[in-house]
Amino acid sequence: MILVTFIRGSADELGEETVTTVALKDVTKVFPDGTIAVDKINLDVNDGEFMVLLGPSGCGKSTVLRMVAGLEDPSSGAVLLDGELANDLPPRDRKIAMVFQDFALYPHMTVGDNIAFPLRLAGVEPSPRGERVADVASALGIGDVLGRKPSQLSGGQRQRVAMGRAIVRRPGLFLMDEPLSNLDSGLRAELRAEISGLTRELGVSTIYVTHDQAEALTMADRVAIMRKGVLQDVGTPTQVYGRPATLYVAAFLGSPRMNLLEASVYVHLDRYVALNIGEQALYLPWTDIRSRAVAHYHGERIVVGMRAEALTPVGPDTPGDVLRGRIRYLEHHGHESLAFLDIGATAIVVDEMGSQAESTDGGQRGRRRFGQVMQRLTGRGGEAEATPDETVRGNRTSVLSDPGRHHRRPAELAVRLAPYPAVSAGHPLSISVRMDALHFFDERGDRIDVGWR
Ligand SMILES: Nc1ncnc2c1ncn2[C@@H]1O[C@H](COP(=O)(O)OP(=O)(O)OP(=O)(O)O)[C@@H](O)[C@H]1O
Ligand SMILES: [Mg+2]
Repeated sequence: MILVTFIRGSADELGEETVTTVALKDVTKVFPDGTIAVDKINLDVNDGEFMVLLGPSGCGKSTVLRMVAGLEDPSSGAVLLDGELANDLPPRDRKIAMVFQDFALYPHMTVGDNIAFPLRLAGVEPSPRGERVADVASALGIGDVLGRKPSQLSGGQRQRVAMGRAIVRRPGLFLMDEPLSNLDSGLRAELRAEISGLTRELGVSTIYVTHDQAEALTMADRVAIMRKGVLQDVGTPTQVYGRPATLYVAAFLGSPRMNLLEASVYVHLDRYVALNIGEQALYLPWTDIRSRAVAHYHGERIVVGMRAEALTPVGPDTPGDVLRGRIRYLEHHGHESLAFLDIGATAIVVDEMGSQAESTDGGQRGRRRFGQVMQRLTGRGGEAEATPDETVRGNRTSVLSDPGRHHRRPAELAVRLAPYPAVSAGHPLSISVRMDALHFFDERGDRIDVGWR
């Protein structure tokens, strides 16, 4: 991890104005072929803020970034830079630095010349230019390779050079489009910390694009989660993780995935709200303020979300809020083991989770795909139940009624255990449920809540 030292000089000395805030107002991008890449997005990036745009491949993240940079024109809506309408401002007049996934460097130039290039274009004199390049390079830990060509660098070093070239003019706004996706996971983690440290040290506003939820949660001041061009939720990592606005966001964030169980609601006035999950039930006491919101769904099905941290294995005779089941299979992750329990319930599976699903949910996904293939072959199973109506509420497409985007299947409740526990498949387990940590969603995929932020 590098220590970011003071980088001499500021943009003002170079006679440059810099952009520090961004506001997107109802910004839509429809490509000529009719693709709606971005759908009425509203988003503010504050001065000095590190905003992460998160979502699966194709959800419109790069298009948003390119509209901020001026590389793409919005079809409608307004892009404001420092409060001024910038829709017609050419990219070179936006004073924004951008780092792309492939961070193309000039191969024939040395590292030093690559970093100095934007300063040369800006007409900065050789002496202050050299000083600034040296400062930036040492801040990025590449001070000793200034004389090398890009081909003589490692991937991580090349990425640092690209960063150096972007920050050397001290932009007010930094746009980064999956800048780490070409690197191996160790280097990613290291550079992740460096990038967020560096941008904070410089006080530069940043929009950082990634499809990696772990990266988003570790780096961001605030995260904006997109799905199919639509903004689903914006908030601090604690807010979007702790109180996800939609079922989609709940399913996207966290590892292991949040358990999403179908429950039917039954109200016993003044006593409790029963959440019937398969043959079992959990009871939300009437004194719990959330019971009033959930009570509106009396006689209906909702989705109850429970993260692994809300679930604790307990002894078989433990009373209270307990779900019982049998272990279907175990996954060992070294520092912990995950048990997947058959509790006789139905799970809601939200699709379009992107590639991260493969890494965080490998076993389940494989099994699910196998199940789907078997179902197609045998015509049995009935887990995939697409609801026909495509309801749109506000700016959000319904998750549950979005055809083909969700399905139901037998639940495999993910529960954390100590590493390599002395249990195996078929073993019965009782799981205590922290009722205050439950999430509730309606059939449209919207959060059911009181005092919703
Ligand atoms: N020039 C274009 N013409 C038509 N459709 C486009 C064009 N550029 C992008 N799209 C489409 O717009 C949607 C959003 O694309 P975008 O590149 O913004 O996604 P993304 O979230 O950055 O994805 P990824 O994570 O794969 O980079 C996609 O469906 C894409 O196919
Ligand atoms: Mg992209």
